[in-house]
Amino acid sequence: MKLVRTRQELTEIVTQWHKNGETIGLVPTMGSLHEGHLTLVRALDGKATRRIVTIFVNPIQFNNPDDFQLYPRGLEADEALLAETGLVDVLYAPDETQIYPPGFCTRITVSGLDKVLCGGDRPGHFDGVATIVTKLFMQTRADIAAFGEKDFQQLCIIRKMVTDLDLPVTILPVPTVREADNLARSSRNRRLTPAQRQQAAHLPQALISCLEALKAGQAVTPTLELCVRTLKEAGFTVHYLDLRSEKTLTPAEKADAGTRLFVAASLGDIRLIDNMPVA
Ligand code: PAF
Repeated sequence: MKLVRTRQELTEIVTQWHKNGETIGLVPTMGSLHEGHLTLVRALDGKATRRIVTIFVNPIQFNNPDDFQLYPRGLEADEALLAETGLVDVLYAPDETQIYPPGFCTRITVSGLDKVLCGGDRPGHFDGVATIVTKLFMQTRADIAAFGEKDFQQLCIIRKMVTDLDLPVTILPVPTVREADNLARSSRNRRLTPAQRQQAAHLPQALISCLEALKAGQAVTPTLELCVRTLKEAGFTVHYLDLRSEKTLTPAEKADAGTRLFVAASLGDIRLIDNMPVA
Protein backbone atom coordinates (compact mmCIF):
# COMPACT_ATOMS: atom_id res chain seq x y z
CA MET A 1 0.00 0.00 0.00
CA LYS A 2 1.33 3.40 -1.00
CA LEU A 3 0.68 6.50 1.08
CA VAL A 4 -0.01 9.40 -1.30
CA ARG A 5 -0.17 12.97 0.00
CA THR A 6 -0.47 15.05 -3.18
CA ARG A 7 -3.05 15.34 -5.89
CA GLN A 8 -0.33 15.30 -8.55
CA GLU A 9 1.04 11.94 -7.45
CA LEU A 10 -2.47 10.52 -7.24
CA THR A 11 -3.26 11.72 -10.77
CA GLU A 12 -0.13 10.01 -12.13
CA ILE A 13 -1.11 6.72 -10.49
CA VAL A 14 -4.78 6.68 -11.51
CA THR A 15 -3.99 7.80 -15.08
CA GLN A 16 -1.65 4.83 -15.44
CA TRP A 17 -4.24 2.47 -13.92
CA HIS A 18 -6.91 3.62 -16.36
CA LYS A 19 -4.46 3.21 -19.28
CA ASN A 20 -3.89 -0.38 -18.12
CA GLY A 21 -7.64 -1.02 -18.09
CA GLU A 22 -7.90 -1.28 -14.28
CA THR A 23 -11.15 -0.59 -12.41
CA ILE A 24 -10.76 1.79 -9.48
CA GLY A 25 -12.71 1.28 -6.27
CA LEU A 26 -12.91 4.08 -3.71
CA VAL A 27 -13.66 4.17 0.00
CA PRO A 28 -13.84 7.82 1.14
CA THR A 29 -13.33 8.25 4.90
CA MET A 30 -12.44 10.82 7.51
CA GLY A 31 -10.06 8.37 9.19
CA SER A 32 -10.19 7.00 12.72
CA LEU A 33 -10.85 3.73 10.96
CA HIS A 34 -12.74 0.76 12.39
CA GLU A 35 -14.33 -2.48 11.24
CA GLY A 36 -17.09 -0.55 9.44
CA HIS A 37 -14.51 1.02 7.11
CA LEU A 38 -12.75 -2.31 6.54
CA THR A 39 -16.12 -3.79 5.55
CA LEU A 40 -16.41 -1.05 2.91
CA VAL A 41 -12.95 -2.00 1.61
CA ARG A 42 -13.91 -5.69 1.45
CA ALA A 43 -17.23 -4.86 -0.22
CA LEU A 44 -15.19 -3.93 -3.31
CA ASP A 45 -13.95 -7.55 -3.67
CA GLY A 46 -14.53 -8.63 -7.26
CA LYS A 47 -15.82 -5.15 -8.19
CA ALA A 48 -12.54 -3.26 -8.60
CA THR A 49 -9.01 -4.28 -9.55
CA ARG A 50 -7.49 -1.36 -7.58
CA ARG A 51 -8.60 0.11 -4.26
CA ILE A 52 -8.06 3.63 -2.94
CA VAL A 53 -8.99 4.65 0.60
CA THR A 54 -9.03 8.38 1.25
CA ILE A 55 -8.60 10.02 4.64
CA PHE A 56 -9.53 13.68 4.86
CA VAL A 57 -11.30 15.34 7.77
CA ASN A 58 -13.38 17.68 5.67
CA PRO A 59 -13.70 21.06 7.40
CA ILE A 60 -16.62 22.28 5.28
CA GLN A 61 -18.98 19.53 6.45
CA PHE A 62 -18.65 20.52 10.12
CA ASN A 63 -21.11 23.22 11.05
CA ASN A 64 -19.68 23.19 14.59
CA PRO A 65 -15.95 24.15 14.79
CA ASP A 66 -15.54 22.27 18.11
CA ASP A 67 -16.82 19.10 16.49
CA PHE A 68 -14.19 19.53 13.74
CA GLN A 69 -11.40 20.10 16.28
CA LEU A 70 -12.48 17.15 18.43
CA TYR A 71 -12.95 14.73 15.53
CA PRO A 72 -10.62 11.78 16.30
CA ARG A 73 -7.48 11.61 14.13
CA GLY A 74 -4.60 9.13 13.90
CA LEU A 75 -3.02 8.62 10.49
CA GLU A 76 -0.35 6.13 11.61
CA ALA A 77 -2.83 3.73 13.22
CA ASP A 78 -5.17 4.07 10.23
CA GLU A 79 -2.33 3.36 7.82
CA ALA A 80 -1.30 0.23 9.77
CA LEU A 81 -4.88 -1.06 9.87
CA LEU A 82 -5.33 -0.65 6.12
CA ALA A 83 -1.90 -2.13 5.29
CA GLU A 84 -2.81 -5.20 7.37
CA THR A 85 -5.79 -5.99 5.13
CA GLY A 86 -3.47 -6.39 2.13
CA LEU A 87 -6.37 -5.10 0.01
CA VAL A 88 -5.61 -1.40 -0.42
CA ASP A 89 -3.32 -0.11 -3.20
CA VAL A 90 -3.30 3.57 -2.27
CA LEU A 91 -4.07 5.47 0.89
CA TYR A 92 -4.69 9.06 -0.22
CA ALA A 93 -4.35 11.42 2.76
CA PRO A 94 -4.17 14.95 1.33
CA ASP A 95 -3.85 18.11 3.37
CA GLU A 96 -6.29 20.95 2.86
CA THR A 97 -4.23 22.64 0.09
CA GLN A 98 -4.69 19.59 -2.15
CA ILE A 99 -8.47 19.76 -1.80
CA TYR A 100 -9.40 23.40 -1.21
CA PRO A 101 -6.70 25.64 -2.72
CA PRO A 102 -6.90 29.35 -1.84
CA GLY A 103 -9.98 30.94 -3.39
CA PHE A 104 -12.01 27.72 -3.50
CA CYS A 105 -15.64 28.82 -3.35
CA THR A 106 -17.79 26.13 -5.01
CA ARG A 107 -20.49 24.14 -3.18
CA ILE A 108 -22.77 21.37 -4.41
CA THR A 109 -26.30 21.35 -3.02
CA VAL A 110 -28.69 18.42 -3.41
CA SER A 111 -31.81 20.47 -2.75
CA GLY A 112 -34.51 19.12 -0.49
CA LEU A 113 -32.81 15.95 0.70
CA ASP A 114 -30.25 18.14 2.46
CA LYS A 115 -32.85 19.91 4.62
CA VAL A 116 -34.54 16.98 6.40
CA LEU A 117 -33.27 14.73 9.25
CA CYS A 118 -29.64 15.70 9.99
CA GLY A 119 -29.92 18.61 7.53
CA GLY A 120 -32.42 20.26 9.90
CA ASP A 121 -29.94 21.07 12.64
CA ARG A 122 -26.66 20.79 10.69
CA PRO A 123 -27.04 23.57 8.09
CA GLY A 124 -24.54 23.27 5.24
CA HIS A 125 -23.37 19.81 6.36
CA PHE A 126 -24.59 17.95 3.28
CA ASP A 127 -23.32 20.67 0.90
CA GLY A 128 -19.92 20.03 2.45
CA VAL A 129 -20.31 16.27 2.02
CA ALA A 130 -21.54 16.51 -1.59
CA THR A 131 -18.70 18.89 -2.46
CA ILE A 132 -15.87 16.80 -0.97
CA VAL A 133 -17.27 13.54 -2.36
CA THR A 134 -17.40 15.06 -5.86
CA LYS A 135 -13.84 16.31 -5.49
CA LEU A 136 -12.69 12.86 -4.36
CA PHE A 137 -14.52 11.21 -7.28
CA MET A 138 -12.73 13.58 -9.69
CA GLN A 139 -9.29 13.29 -8.08
CA THR A 140 -9.35 9.48 -7.77
CA ARG A 141 -11.27 8.92 -11.03
CA ALA A 142 -13.08 6.10 -9.23
CA ASP A 143 -15.31 3.73 -11.18
CA ILE A 144 -17.09 2.49 -8.07
CA ALA A 145 -17.33 3.91 -4.54
CA ALA A 146 -18.56 2.20 -1.35
CA PHE A 147 -20.67 4.05 1.25
CA GLY A 148 -22.09 2.70 4.51
CA GLU A 149 -25.84 2.58 5.15
CA LYS A 150 -25.17 3.89 8.65
CA ASP A 151 -25.11 7.36 7.05
CA PHE A 152 -28.22 6.58 5.06
CA GLN A 153 -29.15 10.19 4.31
CA GLN A 154 -25.61 10.81 3.06
CA LEU A 155 -25.91 7.72 0.82
CA CYS A 156 -29.27 8.99 -0.62
CA ILE A 157 -27.78 12.42 -1.28
CA ILE A 158 -24.69 11.01 -3.01
CA ARG A 159 -26.80 8.68 -5.18
CA LYS A 160 -29.05 11.57 -6.22
CA MET A 161 -26.06 13.79 -6.97
CA VAL A 162 -24.43 11.07 -9.09
CA THR A 163 -27.67 10.61 -11.06
CA ASP A 164 -28.38 14.32 -11.47
CA LEU A 165 -24.83 15.22 -12.52
CA ASP A 166 -24.22 12.09 -14.67
CA LEU A 167 -21.10 11.35 -12.64
CA PRO A 168 -19.39 8.26 -14.10
CA VAL A 169 -19.20 6.30 -10.85
CA THR A 170 -21.27 3.42 -9.43
CA ILE A 171 -22.37 3.76 -5.81
CA LEU A 172 -22.14 0.59 -3.74
CA PRO A 173 -24.25 0.68 -0.54
CA VAL A 174 -22.91 -1.43 2.34
CA PRO A 175 -25.02 -2.52 5.37
CA THR A 176 -24.18 -1.06 8.79
CA VAL A 177 -21.61 -2.91 10.89
CA ARG A 178 -22.66 -3.23 14.54
CA GLU A 179 -21.02 -4.05 17.86
CA ALA A 180 -22.17 -7.12 19.84
CA ASP A 181 -24.79 -4.95 21.61
CA ASN A 182 -25.98 -3.60 18.21
CA LEU A 183 -24.47 -0.13 18.54
CA ALA A 184 -23.59 1.00 15.00
CA ARG A 185 -19.83 1.27 14.47
CA SER A 186 -18.76 4.91 14.27
CA SER A 187 -15.56 6.88 14.75
CA ARG A 188 -17.46 9.07 17.20
CA ASN A 189 -17.99 6.07 19.54
CA ARG A 190 -14.34 6.52 20.58
CA ARG A 191 -15.27 9.76 22.29
CA LEU A 192 -17.85 8.08 24.56
CA THR A 193 -16.86 7.59 28.20
CA PRO A 194 -17.26 4.00 29.47
CA ALA A 195 -20.56 5.03 31.12
CA GLN A 196 -21.81 6.72 27.94
CA ARG A 197 -20.75 3.68 25.90
CA GLN A 198 -23.08 1.54 28.04
CA GLN A 199 -25.88 4.08 27.70
CA ALA A 200 -25.35 4.19 23.92
CA ALA A 201 -26.59 0.60 23.56
CA HIS A 202 -30.09 1.91 24.36
CA LEU A 203 -30.17 3.59 20.94
CA PRO A 204 -30.28 0.45 18.74
CA GLN A 205 -32.37 -1.33 21.39
CA ALA A 206 -34.99 1.42 21.24
CA LEU A 207 -35.04 1.26 17.43
CA ILE A 208 -35.46 -2.54 17.47
CA SER A 209 -38.39 -2.31 19.97
CA CYS A 210 -39.96 0.48 17.92
CA LEU A 211 -39.69 -1.59 14.73
CA GLU A 212 -41.23 -4.61 16.44
CA ALA A 213 -44.19 -2.52 17.60
CA LEU A 214 -44.67 -1.01 14.13
CA LYS A 215 -44.50 -4.42 12.49
CA ALA A 216 -47.08 -5.70 14.99
CA GLY A 217 -49.43 -3.03 13.62
CA GLN A 218 -49.11 -0.31 16.32
CA ALA A 219 -49.88 3.23 15.09
CA VAL A 220 -46.82 5.17 13.95
CA THR A 221 -47.09 8.44 15.93
CA PRO A 222 -47.63 7.02 19.46
CA THR A 223 -45.02 4.33 18.82
CA LEU A 224 -42.43 6.93 17.85
CA GLU A 225 -43.42 9.11 20.83
CA LEU A 226 -42.95 6.18 23.20
CA CYS A 227 -39.53 5.47 21.70
CA VAL A 228 -38.47 9.11 22.14
CA ARG A 229 -39.57 8.98 25.80
CA THR A 230 -37.57 5.77 26.32
CA LEU A 231 -34.46 7.38 24.83
CA LYS A 232 -34.86 10.52 26.96
CA GLU A 233 -35.22 8.35 30.07
CA ALA A 234 -31.97 6.62 29.05
CA GLY A 235 -30.23 10.02 29.10
CA PHE A 236 -30.28 10.99 25.40
CA THR A 237 -31.09 14.36 23.90
CA VAL A 238 -33.20 13.29 20.92
CA HIS A 239 -32.80 15.41 17.76
CA TYR A 240 -35.25 13.38 15.69
CA LEU A 241 -36.84 9.97 15.42
CA ASP A 242 -38.72 9.55 12.14
CA LEU A 243 -40.21 6.89 9.92
CA ARG A 244 -39.41 7.86 6.32
CA SER A 245 -39.30 6.55 2.77
CA GLU A 246 -35.89 5.08 1.92
CA LYS A 247 -35.97 6.62 -1.55
CA THR A 248 -37.29 10.13 -1.03
CA LEU A 249 -36.73 10.54 2.73
CA THR A 250 -40.29 11.90 2.99
CA PRO A 251 -42.21 11.03 6.19
CA ALA A 252 -44.14 7.74 5.99
CA GLU A 253 -47.56 7.25 7.52
CA LYS A 254 -47.34 3.46 7.45
CA ALA A 255 -44.49 1.09 8.24
CA ASP A 256 -44.23 -0.60 4.84
CA ALA A 257 -41.33 -2.23 3.00
CA GLY A 258 -39.28 0.66 1.65
CA THR A 259 -39.61 2.67 4.85
CA ARG A 260 -36.94 3.07 7.49
CA LEU A 261 -36.58 4.43 11.02
CA PHE A 262 -34.04 7.24 11.37
CA VAL A 263 -32.70 8.58 14.64
CA ALA A 264 -30.18 11.17 15.82
CA ALA A 265 -29.58 11.53 19.55
CA SER A 266 -26.76 12.91 21.66
CA LEU A 267 -25.05 11.79 24.84
CA GLY A 268 -23.38 14.92 26.21
CA ASP A 269 -21.88 16.61 23.13
CA ILE A 270 -21.54 13.36 21.17
CA ARG A 271 -24.12 13.01 18.45
CA LEU A 272 -25.00 9.46 17.40
CA ILE A 273 -27.10 8.50 14.39
CA ASP A 274 -28.63 5.20 13.34
CA ASN A 275 -31.30 3.81 11.05
CA MET A 276 -33.04 0.47 10.49
CA PRO A 277 -35.25 -0.74 7.66
CA VAL A 278 -38.82 -1.89 8.33
CA ALA A 279 -38.35 -4.90 5.99
O1 PAF B 1 -18.95 9.43 5.85
C1 PAF B 1 -17.88 10.08 5.97
O2 PAF B 1 -16.93 9.65 6.61
C2 PAF B 1 -17.75 11.44 5.29
O3 PAF B 1 -18.95 12.13 5.32
C3 PAF B 1 -17.20 11.34 3.84
C4 PAF B 1 -18.14 10.58 2.93
C5 PAF B 1 -15.84 10.66 3.87
C6 PAF B 1 -17.02 12.75 3.27
O4 PAF B 1 -16.15 13.51 4.04
